Amino acid sequence: MSEPTPDDSEAEDGSVRVGTTEEVIEDSPMAVPVNGTAVAVFHHEDGFHAVDNRCPHMGFPLTEGTVEDGILTCHWHHARFEISCGNTFDPWADDVPNYPVEVRDGDVYVGVDPQRDLSPAERWAERLETGMEENLDLVVAKSVIGLDDAGVAPEEPIRTGVEFGTTYREDGWSSGLTILGCMANVLDDLRPEDRRRALFTGLRHVASDCAGEPPRFGQPALEVDDAGPERLKKWFRENVEVRDADGAERVLRTAVETCDREAVEEMLFAAATDHIYLNTGHTLDFVNKAVETLDHVGWDRADDALASLVTSLTGATRSEELSSWRQPVDLAEILFDAYEDLDDMVAEGEGREWTPPEGFDDTLLSDDPHDIVDALTTAVREGATTTELADRVCHAAATRVAQFGTSNEFSDWNTVHHTFTYANAVRQATRRTDATELYRGVFDAATNVYLDRFLNTPPAPIPEPGETDRDPDAILDDLLETFDQEGEVDTAGSLVGEFFDAGGEMADLKATMGRGLLREDAGFHTLQAVEAGFAQYEAAETDHDRRVAMVAPARYMAAHFPTRREAEQTFTIAERLNSGEAVHE
Ligand code: FES
Repeated sequence: MSEPTPDDSEAEDGSVRVGTTEEVIEDSPMAVPVNGTAVAVFHHEDGFHAVDNRCPHMGFPLTEGTVEDGILTCHWHHARFEISCGNTFDPWADDVPNYPVEVRDGDVYVGVDPQRDLSPAERWAERLETGMEENLDLVVAKSVIGLDDAGVAPEEPIRTGVEFGTTYREDGWSSGLTILGCMANVLDDLRPEDRRRALFTGLRHVASDCAGEPPRFGQPALEVDDAGPERLKKWFRENVEVRDADGAERVLRTAVETCDREAVEEMLFAAATDHIYLNTGHTLDFVNKAVETLDHVGWDRADDALASLVTSLTGATRSEELSSWRQPVDLAEILFDAYEDLDDMVAEGEGREWTPPEGFDDTLLSDDPHDIVDALTTAVREGATTTELADRVCHAAATRVAQFGTSNEFSDWNTVHHTFTYANAVRQATRRTDATELYRGVFDAATNVYLDRFLNTPPAPIPEPGETDRDPDAILDDLLETFDQEGEVDTAGSLVGEFFDAGGEMADLKATMGRGLLREDAGFHTLQAVEAGFAQYEAAETDHDRRVAMVAPARYMAAHFPTRREAEQTFTIAERLNSGEAVHE
């Protein structure tokens, strides 16, 4: 192989003269600079070929490869490319851009632009689909970066992820799509470079969830003329009740076709609260995240997206079936008794304005479930809306995370986390619909807060407001460093408190937490915790509530970080490849 050729004399059409045919035959393969790109020129089987010299997989120089029988093989991971067109035999590697080559008057010329049929936006959209089909993180990362560079709005790759995830997983909506929804929700809170990481995070989790799974075959809508939202809602709940997924899906699709959005969402939230705390709260969380994701990608995707939730509803474990909800106190019975009177309670509270009584928050965090349910039922009778109650219960749930004792078993972080994300989902749902059924979600969440009480024994202190003369940026630097070390849970909480004391900008805190989150291999729960914390911060009305909202996810992150940062390494490689930087020197 020759060294990169300096003979870059240009023809009138801009193409670059490589050398005489004899020279190129003699020196093949050769690397030549063309318009700032190193191009590998090969003589093979009486023809001349030119491709980008960087292997599209991870940048190994293709002039170091081997051509045999029309196939160029990269020597690093052995990706193979058809030499005349650059198409790969190995989708994980991607096609290598090929350049036009001409022989004129005994000289070999390489055209200045690679031969591509598709625009960058089209090409990266196509690659994203391949990356998801093959579950290839590097291809997904390159595609997300390529789409962003091509000026494609983030809603496009999110839409691709939703369509893919709701088509290629028989069991439907799961953690991957929920992560994608979480990432879509926090995009605006992130630094521009981390928005790409957020999309990569969501999309790779969707791809991973679908890998090896059978696809989904949907049921059609009923051809009924005008069943109306009330009857459809009744049919839907009845089908979910008897765990008939096909029947429920047909009704749901009918509702999407014939009812307005609020009626469809109300139907889903009602079914998700007909039993107690379905699937450790995941079912209602998935429903809420699905409708939130449709805010980003458009209601025209509702049909398949919402149909994918049905399995989670019909197959869910109902918490009244669990001994923890029956013994030593029959919590399920207490709740079902309250739900029987719900319509009357709501009617009694109609037209009244509710203000939380003194000690209401303390009652929610107390150790008597009867007192908690009594406080909630009294509030409903006094006119408390679902949102007003959900706000207080969500704050109580965030407090359990903010005060989680680090002497607990590590896995118990999940317990307080599930309650918090469930309460957050209920709270967000109440902002979309005033369906009476959502009071049940509020009561369920409050009962979970009660169940989690031992995990605050002793309670970790929530940093009280104080004074500091430290610069907010220095505090954020410390916070990121804290995430670099294991076990700095309480330090992370204190630093967030100090950031409040220093009067720092909340946008900076969120962006920094986003940075800390997306450089790690953060799991489903950690990603959810941060999104829920940000949502809780926005909903909070007092300084104390806002502190708790941000202390909780910061402590959760610190408990789960650092990680190996494998995804970040993949993302960094993708960035370097897409920008033309050499990955392999
Ligand atoms: S196969 Fe070429 S760099 Fe991996």
